[in-house]
Amino acid sequence: MVDIGPSLGTALWRKQLDDRAQHVLKEIVDADILVIGAPTYKGSYPGLFKHLVDLIDPQELRSKPILITATGGGDRHALMVEHQLRPLFGFFMAHTLPTAVYASDRDFADYAVSSEQLVKRIDEAVCEVGAFFPTTTANRAAAE
Ligand SMILES: Cc1cc2nc3c(=O)[nH]c(=O)nc-3n(C[C@H](O)[C@H](O)[C@H](O)COP(=O)(O)O)c2cc1C
Repeated sequence: MVDIGPSLGTALWRKQLDDRAQHVLKEIVDADILVIGAPTYKGSYPGLFKHLVDLIDPQELRSKPILITATGGGDRHALMVEHQLRPLFGFFMAHTLPTAVYASDRDFADYAVSSEQLVKRIDEAVCEVGAFFPTTTANRAAAE
């Protein structure tokens, strides 16, 4: 997690971002895989989160694997990941992983995940990442 700084809120175009924010945007669009996480605000993602996404060109996330995650104060808006985040990245023609992860305040204790169910769901989602990075002899050799 990084602080993108104050220029995000005032930039209408990407070129208006300061260097720090431009760098964060570049890291996002250059990543092999994205784990997107947002708190739930009024049943959806926060406005400033959407503003960050608005500064990304549609082509830049095309086919990118994305694990979508969200937190909320309770379970009432657990489908926020399916009804808000998934369609948003559908617009970009990204590959959102089939398993999305939603967690509420009671899934955490001392800033760590304390729910077994949540750990299982995170494991499921992480396993799905494997489909995008098949272990072939060729890329195993390249990694060595
Ligand atoms: C303005 C505002 C609106 C919120 N709306 C919701 C909501 O609609 N549903 C919900 O489950 N939690 C809601 N919450 C609670 C946050 O989602 C929750 O505190 C947050 O996910 C915790 O993550 P954080 O510690 O990273 O902020 C809201 C919080 C704020 C500040």
